[in-house]
Amino acid sequence: MDSALAIHRLHFAFTVTFHYIFPQLTMGLALLLVVLKTLALRTGDEHYNQAARFWAKIFAINFAMGVVTGIPMEFQFGTNWARFSKAAGGVIGQTLAMEGMFSFFLESTFLGLFIYGEQRLGPRLHWLTGVFVFVGSWLSGYFIIATDAWMQHPVGYSVGPDGAIALSSLAGLLANPWILWQYTHNMLASVATASFVMAAAGAFYILSQHNVSFGKTFVCVGVTSGAVATLLLAFPTGDQQAKMIALNQPATLAAMEGLFNAENGAPLALIGQPDMERQRLDNPIAIPEMLSFLTYKRWHAEIKGLNDFPRDQWPDNIPLLYFSYHIMVGLGTLLVAVAVTCAVLLKLGRLYNNRAALWVLMLAFPFPYVATTAGWMTAEIGRQPWLIYGLMRTSAGTSARVTGGSGMFTLLGFFGLYALLALLFVFLIWREIEHGPEPAKAP
Ligand code: HEM
Repeated sequence: MDSALAIHRLHFAFTVTFHYIFPQLTMGLALLLVVLKTLALRTGDEHYNQAARFWAKIFAINFAMGVVTGIPMEFQFGTNWARFSKAAGGVIGQTLAMEGMFSFFLESTFLGLFIYGEQRLGPRLHWLTGVFVFVGSWLSGYFIIATDAWMQHPVGYSVGPDGAIALSSLAGLLANPWILWQYTHNMLASVATASFVMAAAGAFYILSQHNVSFGKTFVCVGVTSGAVATLLLAFPTGDQQAKMIALNQPATLAAMEGLFNAENGAPLALIGQPDMERQRLDNPIAIPEMLSFLTYKRWHAEIKGLNDFPRDQWPDNIPLLYFSYHIMVGLGTLLVAVAVTCAVLLKLGRLYNNRAALWVLMLAFPFPYVATTAGWMTAEIGRQPWLIYGLMRTSAGTSARVTGGSGMFTLLGFFGLYALLALLFVFLIWREIEHGPEPAKAP
């Protein structure tokens, strides 16, 4: 890989990974805010309104960080990926513009009303603004996933004589079959992140004997939604995504599983290291025939190996792809175990005084962030060497006149700027957590 290409890729990988720390929380939190506001409306208990106000502040900080780090990426399409933007702008420009026009404005307008309008709007209208924040943020996610889904599985386009890709069906683009499982899996991942963050804050409050009643509410809501989301991440959404990949990107599936040669009754590798020289998985622990069964519901079905595909169509970093995938699935299994065990303890009335479980909950919140990052790495590294699968190679999409040196210069600038932003973010969030929700005012 030439160095300019490597730097442009690293540039985007860094900015998008940093950016996605924030929306993954806000999209999931938007749903949990609606849950808290619904509880407030149903019970008439001010406690749930206080809880919602607290999380709205955390939401707002993350939302602002998401906007600040999201805008540079739109420019990167032009600065670092000019040939891609020129060729495919007619398609991806549609969904990216719709994201800005419809959903971002919807979400930000109603977020303002949600935070500042509670006194004037009254309980029902305030609840409705929360629902619109949720709809706006989930629509945003939809348009972004529709853009990525088109790059994974291009549909509804035609290629002109000059090589420009034109949109031939907007409906086709928005109803791309790739979207269904990618979107549901991704949004559930957001719900998992928000649930574990909420539960961690709750566990912290209970353990430190500070804001205990809010702590119990946060743990209860977080653990319940976390258990549902993590179970659904594995089945059906993760499972269906893998089937889609087996069907449409078979070389990617072989690389994700470290399978070099085709096998009838292929095993599912739980652990092992891909050995690129010897073309095998070192130190494997695998469940025999399970990959064939999960993919085709037949124990002896054939799964193609990497050697069934030309070398120039293999993903270019197979070990990184393999490990990203296994980290996501491994952490997914761990998160199911934590969330379901805590949900059972909650149901039995034994969670709030179980210090060990509360400590686990308090410390587990980084794992969904790691799993989500690993999931996106799987999707994006797995699509290589294609920028648009089967249509345009990644090496053909960079800005031809931007050298590796220029790319590195701005990347270093991003490192510095984002390090400062990260410090500011941690400070602002810690301040809110330490302060905690406002106690209910005396009537
Ligand atoms: C537990 C079992 C899980 C399975 C079987 C699974 C499976 C998958 C598959 C097959 C992909 C598509 C990769 C590609 O496009 O090449 C994927 C992507 C992804 N996964 Fe998972 N996953 C699991 C758990 C999780 C967890 C726990 C999270 C986060 C909390 C997560 C977050 C993501 C994300 C953000 C993506 C990228 C977006 C997408 O393609 O949906 N996954 N996962």
